[in-house]
Amino acid sequence: MMLSSSGKITIDLGRRSYAINVGSELLAYLAKKADQVFPPATSALIVTNTTIAPLYGQALADALAPYYPHVHTVTLPDGEEHKTWQTLNLIFDALLTHGCDRKVVLYALGGGVIGDMTGFAAACYMRGVDFVQVPTTLLAQVDSSVGGKTGINHPLGKNMVGAFHQPRLVICDLSTLNTLPTRELAAGIAEVIKYGPIADMAFFAWLEEHMDALLAREPQALAHAVQRSCEIKAEVVGADEREAGLRAILNFGHTFGHAIEAGLGYGQWLHGEGVAAGMVMAAELSQRLGLVDAAFVQRLRRLIERAGLPVRGPVLDARDNAARYLELMRVDKKAEAGAIRFVLIEQPGRAVLRPAPDALVREVIDTCCAG
Ligand code: NAD
Ligand code: GLY
Repeated sequence: MMLSSSGKITIDLGRRSYAINVGSELLAYLAKKADQVFPPATSALIVTNTTIAPLYGQALADALAPYYPHVHTVTLPDGEEHKTWQTLNLIFDALLTHGCDRKVVLYALGGGVIGDMTGFAAACYMRGVDFVQVPTTLLAQVDSSVGGKTGINHPLGKNMVGAFHQPRLVICDLSTLNTLPTRELAAGIAEVIKYGPIADMAFFAWLEEHMDALLAREPQALAHAVQRSCEIKAEVVGADEREAGLRAILNFGHTFGHAIEAGLGYGQWLHGEGVAAGMVMAAELSQRLGLVDAAFVQRLRRLIERAGLPVRGPVLDARDNAARYLELMRVDKKAEAGAIRFVLIEQPGRAVLRPAPDALVREVIDTCCAG
């Protein structure tokens, strides 16, 4: 495969291995290529939303046209609150209305919401068809498009219904990030920062040095951030695809973050914002357990703040905020027999999955929530 990409990462999963292509103007480039770069199929269905369709829908349809006899598009409503069964059904409606057979390939054109729903639809349709991720948010380029976690939300819990289903290819076109709203860019930076404390403190130091460049969307800085994040994620997923253990470290900050998202109502805080405040809370918990020192927590808090992200959680219940967080966190997928397990920083650059005493978690919530 030849792409004018700045980098290509392979995620090593045996027969299900695939490439993550990172570069500028990939969509435009693909449209001009005669090579076969996409998975062969009888038809393609682009799954996108009302915001992204007018920006990039035509470019992707043009890129796919030479390769597929039929290219269809389904345009979903935009927003985390639409990551539901009802919206998922619109994808099945489109597949069946267009008479798509097992050889259809779905293209997820959008952020993590579109990617997760398209992947889940691909996992279910006719018991499993191929799909390709074309992520257009920073968050999706550095995290959600890679690794095959797909699904939807349930009112009682975030991402509670889903499947592991790997894409055949990931195309990260960095130029799509130019139209991303600033708040969404920052939310993506939260997932980039995550990779430092869990796996690579040299990358964390690089982020400290280049945060202004990232916020200014300097192409080289974005390319490095996406490339390094995908490399780390590919390595973790390659070692533990189904989250038997190691992969859970990618959820640093997510136990608190998912509680924030579900507790406020999906779409109030962005996923990355919940993760940002959640990382500070998880780092505070790590400190209280004697794993890291206060200087590390402060360093993490400062970087998150510089990205324009929240470092304090919201109050979810004025009567007993900690009890509400604990209740929500018990619905986490990492919980076992009702016991919450947290991704904690064992030492900067290394994470571990562990339970923690409720009393200590309460202390963290009381200290770290605004109000
Ligand atoms: P999102 O998909 O809601 O996208 C954010 C907003 O930006 C949306 O309004 C979208 O329409 C818009 N947008 C997307 N690309 C754009 C562009 N190039 N220009 C202008 N606007 C654009 O949110 P997200 O942050 O990308 O993803 C969050 C979701 O990802 C959550 O549901 C989360 O659970 C999931 N997630 C999944 C994984 C995984 O491993 N599967 C990992 C992390 C997060
Ligand atoms: N975003 C967490 C994971 O992919 O495992």
